[in-house]
Amino acid sequence: MIDLDCFSKRRDRFLAQLGDKAAVIPGAPLVTHHSDCEYPFRQNSDFWYLTGFDEPDAVALFLPYRPKGEQYILFVLPKRSTDEVWTGFRWGTEGAVGRFGADIAHSIDELAIRLSDYLVGADGIAFRVGKHPQVQALVLKAWTEQLDKFQRNGSGALSLVAPCPLIHQLRLRKEKIEIDRMREAARISAGAHELARNIVRPGMNERQVQALIEQYFLDHGARGPAYQSIVAGGDNACVLHYTANNSQLADGDLLLIDAGCSLFDYYNGDITRTFPINGHFTGEQRALYEIVLKAQEVAIDLVSPGQNAENVHESAVRIIVEGLLDLGLLRGSVDSLIEQRAYSHLYMHRTGHWLGLDVHDVGAYRLGEYPVKLQSGMVLTVEPGIYISDRLPVPQDQPSIDERWKGIGIRIEDDVLVGDFEKEVLSLNALKSVESMQFAK
Ligand code: GLY
Ligand code: MN
Ligand code: MN
Repeated sequence: MIDLDCFSKRRDRFLAQLGDKAAVIPGAPLVTHHSDCEYPFRQNSDFWYLTGFDEPDAVALFLPYRPKGEQYILFVLPKRSTDEVWTGFRWGTEGAVGRFGADIAHSIDELAIRLSDYLVGADGIAFRVGKHPQVQALVLKAWTEQLDKFQRNGSGALSLVAPCPLIHQLRLRKEKIEIDRMREAARISAGAHELARNIVRPGMNERQVQALIEQYFLDHGARGPAYQSIVAGGDNACVLHYTANNSQLADGDLLLIDAGCSLFDYYNGDITRTFPINGHFTGEQRALYEIVLKAQEVAIDLVSPGQNAENVHESAVRIIVEGLLDLGLLRGSVDSLIEQRAYSHLYMHRTGHWLGLDVHDVGAYRLGEYPVKLQSGMVLTVEPGIYISDRLPVPQDQPSIDERWKGIGIRIEDDVLVGDFEKEVLSLNALKSVESMQFAK
């Protein structure tokens, strides 16, 4: 688990960037699943990044214009034995100060009456509109009062700005301790993939494989899956976000598994492997697998400081288009196929995304017209694929697809850390060579 000291350092950096603005950063509420049952609690990642506080219905205020000792305020659920007997231990206001380093803490019930007072001295408010309806109502009311006061006093928190650019810029480059945690998330996730490949047999159900993977996550100290595990046999793999996981695995099909764990401090793995259910590729499966693998290796090779995610994507696209041309699944010149995206019925997604506290982590990919340059400490996935099914129409001028190719969906995904000089593939313990995907069953 990440130690509490690092949250305090992040708060110092965040406070220093706020100028004279107050930041209001809400945590997550519990979300209803059905009737009065809730989904497992998942803290808001921005709130977590700054506080390390893992209870629902909390709000943090950051007030850089106030004296030291009054700059970090937490509003939390109060300790109440009649609630704790149902839902378990709470830190309450004492714990918010004593353990989590808040300068001052109040019950969340007091946010409505205290917010205005805490804004005295601010020249603006940093709050993400549109995501937190209950807190937003209080912030907008307090902001309206500030605007009215400005009318009379000539000072007040006039502007309302988004805090995301500041926090997300911090989150995009991972600290050393975060990188250690992401190594751990990738290590556990990779172990689950290795286990699954060794156990899968024709006739098993996708959900049995899901159960094995997720049991492995829990057994190895993770909180659980980072996202809905995708366990997709045969043609199901051509549904990019397939999560039904309820089909029998057929002899002769491939199995695509996209699964990663989330640690108790919310760092995530995100790995995809695809392998033959009976241990042997058919000629068509192997030909396509080799293209995806080469595309992924070329793209990973490009990950280095100064490069950018668009070039990484484009390098994978080029290898995929060249490979599909060789197999007769595309027709034309490489450049025009790429320019017209005439491959997009076979490869329809981007090659990766930032990874961190969110699986699709925060941080811009472009700054205006310029792609964001990779810098050491950034972590991204590299995940090209080929998916051959009847779901999308074949573009005009492109060859129709022979039945023998259909129902093949392949993706290979790794988590890659940009280093000062060298990249590090965090998920390298999940094997992916053609040879390691095949064995006697
Ligand atoms: N598992 C989600 C993704 O690969 O983006
Ligand atoms: Mn991914
Ligand atoms: Mn994935």
